[in-house]
Amino acid sequence: MSIDTLRLAPDDAGLDRAVALLAAGGCVAFPTETVYGLGADAKQDDAVARIYAAKGRPAHNPLIVHVPDVAAAADLADLTDAARALAAAFWPGPLTMVLPLRRGAGLSRLVTAGLDSVALRVPAAPVAQDLLRRCGLPLAAPSANPSGRISPTTADHVLAGLSGRIAAVIDGGPCAVGVESTILDLTGPPRLLRPGGITAEALSRVLDAPVTSAPVTDDTAPVAPGMLASHYAPRARVRLDAEMTGPDEVLLGFGPVAGAALNLSPSGDLSEAAAGLFAALHRLDTDGAVAIAVSPIPDTGLGRAINDRLRRAAAPRDGDPSGPSGPSGRS
Ligand code: TXA
Ligand code: MG
Repeated sequence: MSIDTLRLAPDDAGLDRAVALLAAGGCVAFPTETVYGLGADAKQDDAVARIYAAKGRPAHNPLIVHVPDVAAAADLADLTDAARALAAAFWPGPLTMVLPLRRGAGLSRLVTAGLDSVALRVPAAPVAQDLLRRCGLPLAAPSANPSGRISPTTADHVLAGLSGRIAAVIDGGPCAVGVESTILDLTGPPRLLRPGGITAEALSRVLDAPVTSAPVTDDTAPVAPGMLASHYAPRARVRLDAEMTGPDEVLLGFGPVAGAALNLSPSGDLSEAAAGLFAALHRLDTDGAVAIAVSPIPDTGLGRAINDRLRRAAAPRDGDPSGPSGPSGRS
Protein backbone atom coordinates (compact mmCIF):
# COMPACT_ATOMS: atom_id res chain seq x y z
CA MET A 1 0.00 0.00 0.00
CA SER A 2 1.35 3.41 -0.93
CA ILE A 3 0.84 6.44 1.27
CA ASP A 4 1.27 10.09 0.42
CA THR A 5 4.62 11.07 1.95
CA LEU A 6 4.66 14.68 3.19
CA ARG A 7 7.72 16.92 2.96
CA LEU A 8 7.59 19.08 6.10
CA ALA A 9 9.47 22.30 6.82
CA PRO A 10 11.50 22.36 10.06
CA ASP A 11 9.31 25.13 11.48
CA ASP A 12 6.59 25.14 14.17
CA ALA A 13 3.87 23.96 11.80
CA GLY A 14 6.04 21.23 10.27
CA LEU A 15 7.31 19.94 13.60
CA ASP A 16 3.82 19.95 15.17
CA ARG A 17 2.56 17.93 12.22
CA ALA A 18 5.46 15.52 12.65
CA VAL A 19 4.67 15.12 16.35
CA ALA A 20 1.02 14.31 15.56
CA LEU A 21 2.06 11.72 12.97
CA LEU A 22 4.54 10.12 15.40
CA ALA A 23 1.99 10.03 18.25
CA ALA A 24 -0.41 8.24 15.89
CA GLY A 25 2.23 5.57 15.23
CA GLY A 26 3.51 6.88 11.91
CA CYS A 27 7.09 6.92 10.61
CA VAL A 28 8.67 10.34 10.11
CA ALA A 29 12.17 10.83 8.73
CA PHE A 30 14.18 13.65 10.31
CA PRO A 31 17.67 15.10 9.95
CA THR A 32 20.40 14.42 12.49
CA GLU A 33 23.97 15.68 12.18
CA THR A 34 25.05 12.26 10.87
CA VAL A 35 22.37 11.06 8.42
CA TYR A 36 18.56 11.24 8.19
CA GLY A 37 16.83 8.85 10.60
CA LEU A 38 13.47 7.13 10.12
CA GLY A 39 11.74 7.84 13.43
CA ALA A 40 8.84 6.18 15.21
CA ASP A 41 7.65 5.92 18.82
CA ALA A 42 10.01 3.40 20.41
CA LYS A 43 7.34 2.33 22.89
CA GLN A 44 4.63 1.40 20.33
CA ASP A 45 5.01 -2.03 18.75
CA ASP A 46 2.95 -1.07 15.69
CA ALA A 47 4.97 2.07 15.08
CA VAL A 48 8.28 0.22 15.32
CA ALA A 49 6.97 -2.55 13.07
CA ARG A 50 6.25 0.11 10.44
CA ILE A 51 9.95 1.09 10.42
CA TYR A 52 11.01 -2.49 9.66
CA ALA A 53 8.32 -2.78 6.97
CA ALA A 54 9.17 0.54 5.27
CA LYS A 55 12.90 -0.28 5.13
CA GLY A 56 12.56 -3.99 4.41
CA ARG A 57 14.85 -4.44 7.41
CA PRO A 58 15.38 -7.90 8.93
CA ALA A 59 13.65 -8.05 12.33
CA HIS A 60 16.78 -9.43 14.04
CA ASN A 61 18.56 -6.10 13.50
CA PRO A 62 17.82 -3.79 16.47
CA LEU A 63 17.32 -0.03 16.22
CA ILE A 64 19.02 2.97 17.84
CA VAL A 65 16.78 4.88 20.26
CA HIS A 66 17.12 8.69 20.15
CA VAL A 67 16.52 10.81 23.24
CA PRO A 68 17.03 14.53 23.92
CA ASP A 69 19.46 14.30 26.85
CA VAL A 70 21.27 12.15 29.39
CA ALA A 71 18.34 12.23 31.83
CA ALA A 72 16.04 10.69 29.20
CA ALA A 73 18.75 8.12 28.43
CA ALA A 74 18.90 7.15 32.11
CA ASP A 75 15.17 6.27 32.01
CA LEU A 76 15.89 3.60 29.42
CA ALA A 77 19.32 2.17 30.27
CA ASP A 78 21.71 1.72 33.17
CA LEU A 79 24.41 4.32 32.65
CA THR A 80 27.78 3.05 33.80
CA ASP A 81 30.49 5.49 34.94
CA ALA A 82 32.17 5.15 31.55
CA ALA A 83 28.86 5.92 29.84
CA ARG A 84 28.39 9.05 31.94
CA ALA A 85 31.90 10.25 31.17
CA LEU A 86 31.41 9.68 27.44
CA ALA A 87 27.98 11.34 27.53
CA ALA A 88 29.49 14.40 29.20
CA ALA A 89 32.16 14.59 26.51
CA PHE A 90 30.21 13.69 23.35
CA TRP A 91 26.43 14.10 23.86
CA PRO A 92 24.70 15.65 22.11
CA GLY A 93 26.68 14.32 19.17
CA PRO A 94 27.46 11.40 16.85
CA LEU A 95 28.06 8.72 19.50
CA THR A 96 25.74 5.75 20.12
CA MET A 97 26.24 3.70 23.28
CA VAL A 98 24.99 0.14 23.70
CA LEU A 99 23.99 -0.19 27.36
CA PRO A 100 22.12 -2.59 29.63
CA LEU A 101 18.38 -2.12 29.07
CA ARG A 102 16.57 -0.94 32.20
CA ARG A 103 13.80 -3.11 33.55
CA GLY A 104 10.47 -1.44 32.97
CA ALA A 105 11.90 0.97 30.40
CA GLY A 106 8.77 0.31 28.36
CA LEU A 107 10.47 0.03 24.98
CA SER A 108 8.93 -2.18 22.33
CA ARG A 109 10.75 -5.54 22.22
CA LEU A 110 11.03 -5.00 18.48
CA VAL A 111 13.40 -2.05 19.04
CA THR A 112 15.96 -4.19 20.81
CA ALA A 113 15.22 -7.29 18.74
CA GLY A 114 14.78 -9.08 22.05
CA LEU A 115 18.29 -8.25 23.34
CA ASP A 116 18.80 -7.15 26.95
CA SER A 117 20.81 -4.15 25.74
CA VAL A 118 19.72 -0.97 24.01
CA ALA A 119 21.58 1.41 21.67
CA LEU A 120 21.06 5.05 22.74
CA ARG A 121 22.00 8.30 21.05
CA VAL A 122 21.47 12.00 21.80
CA PRO A 123 21.66 13.77 18.45
CA ALA A 124 23.01 17.32 18.23
CA ALA A 125 21.26 18.63 15.11
CA PRO A 126 18.85 21.38 16.21
CA VAL A 127 15.89 19.95 14.24
CA ALA A 128 16.36 16.54 15.87
CA GLN A 129 16.63 18.12 19.32
CA ASP A 130 13.52 20.24 18.70
CA LEU A 131 11.54 17.22 17.49
CA LEU A 132 12.57 15.02 20.43
CA ARG A 133 11.65 17.70 22.97
CA ARG A 134 8.32 18.48 21.34
CA CYS A 135 7.18 14.89 21.02
CA GLY A 136 8.43 13.73 24.42
CA LEU A 137 8.84 10.20 23.07
CA PRO A 138 11.99 8.14 22.67
CA LEU A 139 12.31 7.74 18.90
CA ALA A 140 13.60 4.54 17.37
CA ALA A 141 15.40 5.66 14.24
CA PRO A 142 17.58 3.69 11.85
CA SER A 143 19.02 5.49 8.85
CA ALA A 144 16.13 6.43 6.52
CA ASN A 145 17.09 4.25 3.55
CA PRO A 146 15.82 0.94 2.20
CA SER A 147 17.74 -1.81 4.00
CA GLY A 148 21.17 -2.45 2.47
CA ARG A 149 21.32 0.79 0.50
CA ILE A 150 23.22 4.04 1.01
CA SER A 151 22.23 6.20 3.97
CA PRO A 152 20.49 9.49 3.17
CA THR A 153 22.05 12.87 3.92
CA THR A 154 19.30 14.98 2.33
CA ALA A 155 15.48 14.87 2.29
CA ASP A 156 15.65 14.15 -1.44
CA HIS A 157 17.69 11.00 -0.75
CA VAL A 158 15.03 9.91 1.77
CA LEU A 159 12.21 10.46 -0.72
CA ALA A 160 14.10 8.70 -3.51
CA GLY A 161 14.25 5.55 -1.36
CA LEU A 162 11.11 5.63 0.79
CA SER A 163 8.48 7.88 -0.81
CA GLY A 164 5.07 6.20 -0.55
CA ARG A 165 6.22 4.03 2.37
CA ILE A 166 6.52 6.61 5.20
CA ALA A 167 4.26 9.35 6.56
CA ALA A 168 6.65 12.29 6.19
CA VAL A 169 10.18 13.65 6.01
CA ILE A 170 11.26 16.85 7.76
CA ASP A 171 13.50 18.69 5.33
CA GLY A 172 16.32 20.20 7.36
CA GLY A 173 18.89 20.42 4.57
CA PRO A 174 22.07 18.37 4.26
CA CYS A 175 23.60 16.59 7.29
CA ALA A 176 26.84 18.10 8.58
CA VAL A 177 28.82 14.98 9.55
CA GLY A 178 27.64 12.70 6.76
CA VAL A 179 28.59 9.28 8.17
CA GLU A 180 26.62 7.49 10.87
CA SER A 181 27.36 7.66 14.57
CA THR A 182 30.15 5.71 16.20
CA ILE A 183 28.67 2.71 18.05
CA LEU A 184 30.39 1.71 21.28
CA ASP A 185 29.30 -1.36 23.24
CA LEU A 186 29.54 -0.69 26.97
CA THR A 187 27.79 -3.82 28.22
CA GLY A 188 31.30 -5.21 28.88
CA PRO A 189 34.79 -3.78 28.30
CA PRO A 190 34.34 -0.91 25.78
CA ARG A 191 34.16 -2.29 22.26
CA LEU A 192 33.83 -0.34 19.04
CA LEU A 193 31.02 -1.88 16.96
CA ARG A 194 30.99 0.72 14.18
CA PRO A 195 33.49 3.52 13.43
CA GLY A 196 31.70 6.82 12.88
CA GLY A 197 31.47 10.51 13.60
CA ILE A 198 33.47 10.30 16.86
CA THR A 199 36.91 8.78 16.34
CA ALA A 200 38.26 5.84 18.37
CA GLU A 201 41.17 8.08 19.40
CA ALA A 202 38.75 10.60 20.96
CA LEU A 203 36.92 7.82 22.83
CA SER A 204 40.16 6.37 24.22
CA ARG A 205 41.23 9.78 25.47
CA VAL A 206 38.07 10.16 27.55
CA LEU A 207 38.08 6.55 28.76
CA ASP A 208 41.82 6.71 29.36
CA ALA A 209 42.00 3.20 27.92
CA PRO A 210 42.32 1.66 24.50
CA VAL A 211 39.10 0.94 22.63
CA THR A 212 39.10 -2.41 20.88
CA SER A 213 37.20 -3.07 17.67
CA ALA A 214 34.66 -5.85 17.39
CA PRO A 215 35.71 -8.52 14.91
CA VAL A 216 34.20 -8.09 11.46
CA THR A 217 31.14 -10.30 11.30
CA ASP A 218 29.28 -12.10 8.60
CA ASP A 219 25.54 -12.21 8.11
CA THR A 220 25.11 -15.21 10.40
CA ALA A 221 26.90 -13.95 13.51
CA PRO A 222 26.23 -10.26 13.87
CA VAL A 223 27.93 -8.36 16.69
CA ALA A 224 26.11 -5.15 15.93
CA PRO A 225 23.54 -7.10 13.99
CA GLY A 226 23.39 -4.42 11.30
CA MET A 227 27.08 -4.67 10.52
CA LEU A 228 26.69 -7.06 7.65
CA ALA A 229 29.63 -7.32 5.30
CA SER A 230 27.62 -5.92 2.39
CA HIS A 231 25.85 -2.74 3.34
CA TYR A 232 25.70 0.89 2.29
CA ALA A 233 25.56 -0.34 -1.26
CA PRO A 234 25.10 1.82 -4.33
CA ARG A 235 23.86 0.05 -7.45
CA ALA A 236 27.24 0.50 -9.12
CA ARG A 237 30.18 -1.80 -8.41
CA VAL A 238 32.75 -0.19 -6.12
CA ARG A 239 36.55 -0.64 -6.11
CA LEU A 240 38.78 0.90 -3.43
CA ASP A 241 42.33 2.30 -3.35
CA ALA A 242 42.26 2.98 -7.07
CA GLU A 243 45.29 4.73 -8.54
CA MET A 244 43.77 4.66 -12.04
CA THR A 245 40.39 3.84 -13.62
CA GLY A 246 39.42 0.89 -15.78
CA PRO A 247 37.38 1.25 -19.01
CA ASP A 248 33.89 1.15 -17.44
CA GLU A 249 34.81 2.98 -14.23
CA VAL A 250 34.28 6.54 -13.04
CA LEU A 251 36.67 7.94 -10.46
CA LEU A 252 35.49 9.17 -7.07
CA GLY A 253 38.51 11.21 -6.08
CA PHE A 254 40.11 12.25 -2.82
CA GLY A 255 42.93 14.75 -2.75
CA PRO A 256 44.57 16.35 -5.78
CA VAL A 257 43.84 13.68 -8.41
CA ALA A 258 43.12 14.26 -12.08
CA GLY A 259 40.09 13.03 -14.03
CA ALA A 260 37.66 12.47 -11.16
CA ALA A 261 33.92 12.45 -11.93
CA LEU A 262 33.44 13.77 -8.38
CA ASN A 263 36.01 14.61 -5.72
CA LEU A 264 35.22 14.05 -2.02
CA SER A 265 37.79 16.66 -1.02
CA PRO A 266 40.34 18.05 -3.49
CA SER A 267 42.33 19.38 -0.53
CA GLY A 268 42.32 16.00 1.24
CA ASP A 269 40.12 17.04 4.19
CA LEU A 270 38.51 14.01 5.89
CA SER A 271 35.60 15.95 7.45
CA GLU A 272 34.67 17.37 4.08
CA ALA A 273 34.96 13.91 2.52
CA ALA A 274 32.71 12.31 5.17
CA ALA A 275 30.09 15.03 4.80
CA GLY A 276 29.87 14.47 1.04
CA LEU A 277 30.43 10.69 0.85
CA PHE A 278 26.86 9.38 0.64
CA ALA A 279 25.68 12.27 -1.55
CA ALA A 280 28.50 11.43 -3.98
CA LEU A 281 27.53 7.74 -4.09
CA HIS A 282 23.84 8.68 -4.52
CA ARG A 283 24.79 11.06 -7.33
CA LEU A 284 26.97 8.56 -9.21
CA ASP A 285 24.16 5.99 -8.90
CA THR A 286 21.58 8.45 -10.21
CA ASP A 287 23.88 9.32 -13.09
CA GLY A 288 23.95 5.62 -14.00
CA ALA A 289 27.57 4.76 -13.15
CA VAL A 290 28.29 1.06 -13.75
CA ALA A 291 31.45 0.94 -11.67
CA ILE A 292 33.05 3.38 -9.25
CA ALA A 293 36.79 3.47 -8.53
CA VAL A 294 37.69 5.35 -5.33
CA SER A 295 41.01 7.08 -4.63
CA PRO A 296 42.95 5.89 -1.55
CA ILE A 297 41.73 7.54 1.67
CA PRO A 298 43.94 7.64 4.79
CA ASP A 299 42.75 5.17 7.44
CA THR A 300 42.97 7.52 10.41
CA GLY A 301 40.37 9.51 12.38
CA LEU A 302 37.20 9.99 10.32
CA GLY A 303 38.94 8.22 7.45
CA ARG A 304 38.27 4.96 9.28
CA ALA A 305 34.51 5.53 9.16
CA ILE A 306 34.73 6.50 5.50
CA ASN A 307 36.79 3.42 4.59
CA ASP A 308 34.47 1.19 6.63
CA ARG A 309 31.46 2.38 4.61
CA LEU A 310 33.37 2.09 1.33
CA ARG A 311 34.54 -1.46 2.13
CA ARG A 312 30.94 -2.47 2.74
CA ALA A 313 29.88 -0.77 -0.49
CA ALA A 314 32.59 -2.74 -2.29
CA ALA A 315 31.82 -6.10 -0.64
CA PRO A 316 30.18 -8.85 -2.70
CA ARG A 317 26.40 -8.63 -2.36
CA ASP A 318 24.21 -11.53 -1.19
CA GLY A 319 24.67 -14.48 -3.53
CA ASP A 320 25.99 -12.20 -6.23
CA PRO A 321 29.77 -12.02 -6.17
CA SER A 322 29.85 -10.00 -9.39
CA GLY A 323 28.12 -7.01 -7.84
CA PRO A 324 24.75 -5.49 -7.13
CA SER A 325 23.43 -5.11 -10.66
CA GLY A 326 22.95 -8.85 -11.10
CA PRO A 327 19.59 -10.54 -10.54
CA SER A 328 20.08 -11.24 -6.83
CA GLY A 329 21.49 -7.83 -5.90
CA ARG A 330 19.77 -5.95 -3.10
CA SER A 331 17.30 -3.34 -4.16
O1 TXA B 1 24.04 8.07 12.93
C1 TXA B 1 23.29 7.13 13.22
O2 TXA B 1 23.58 6.30 14.08
C2 TXA B 1 21.98 7.03 12.45
C3 TXA B 1 21.11 8.24 12.84
C4 TXA B 1 19.75 8.18 12.22
O3 TXA B 1 21.04 8.33 14.24
N1 TXA B 1 21.31 5.79 12.71
C5 TXA B 1 21.76 4.60 12.24
O4 TXA B 1 20.94 3.52 12.52
O5 TXA B 1 22.79 4.49 11.61
P1 TXA B 1 21.05 2.10 11.81
O6 TXA B 1 19.85 1.34 12.22
O7 TXA B 1 21.23 2.26 10.35
O8 TXA B 1 22.26 1.43 12.51
C6 TXA B 1 22.13 1.00 13.84
C7 TXA B 1 23.15 -0.02 14.17
C8 TXA B 1 22.87 -1.36 13.54
O9 TXA B 1 24.09 -1.88 13.05
C9 TXA B 1 22.36 -2.19 14.70
O10 TXA B 1 22.60 -3.55 14.51
C10 TXA B 1 23.13 -1.62 15.85
O11 TXA B 1 23.12 -0.23 15.59
N2 TXA B 1 22.47 -1.85 17.14
C11 TXA B 1 21.28 -1.37 17.56
N3 TXA B 1 20.98 -1.84 18.78
C12 TXA B 1 22.00 -2.63 19.16
C13 TXA B 1 22.29 -3.41 20.33
N4 TXA B 1 21.46 -3.47 21.36
N5 TXA B 1 23.45 -4.08 20.37
C14 TXA B 1 24.33 -4.03 19.33
N6 TXA B 1 24.10 -3.31 18.20
C15 TXA B 1 22.95 -2.63 18.11
MG1 MG C 1 21.72 2.14 8.37
